[in-house]
Amino acid sequence: MRIVVLVSGTGSNLQAVIDAVASGELADVQIAAVGADKHGTYGVQRSAAAGIETFVVNFKDFADRGEWNHALTEKCLSYAPDYVVSSGFMRIVGEEFINAFDGTYINTHPALLPSFPGAHGVRDAMAYGVKVTGCTVHIADAGVDTGPILRQEAVAILDTDTEETLHERIKVVERRLLIATLADLAAK
Ligand code: GAR
Repeated sequence: MRIVVLVSGTGSNLQAVIDAVASGELADVQIAAVGADKHGTYGVQRSAAAGIETFVVNFKDFADRGEWNHALTEKCLSYAPDYVVSSGFMRIVGEEFINAFDGTYINTHPALLPSFPGAHGVRDAMAYGVKVTGCTVHIADAGVDTGPILRQEAVAILDTDTEETLHERIKVVERRLLIATLADLAAK
């Protein structure tokens, strides 16, 4: 199963996938490429260090969102992936991308969707005062963090938590769920 992984940041979840491929836990998964929406991400850096092909479709290089979305779609299609995985990819992709990867665009989110979608899922859950949050792996559709849920797990919010400590605990679970999801999909 060929995947393209998209990142905007540190790519620590991506690193877990890279490690799982290397260790044989995801023996049937091949990371065809890792792409980012901006230059200088650690996610791309660590992928290149692991010998994985990387690309940047820099949002700021395009006149409008539609042109960027077209370039991203074409670039991802060029790797003929079975799935595209958003692993902390913080840009909303447009209809052209969603249509090209209909049902095969996987996203992870650090909250129990449909609660707290968007760029600040951890912060928003804390601000609301919920006592339990978690993470979700789902098939992404044209909405913001919407689409059929594949896996989900709860994480308790502690009185002592900061956004950073909570997000780190969520990410530990997120990595496990993402790897399990990819293993499921590869076995199909
Ligand atoms: C992850 O928690 C991911 O769920 C989140 O960004 C983090 C990326 O961490 N994505 C979203 O919030 C998307 N709405 P990483 O770069 O260390 O893997």
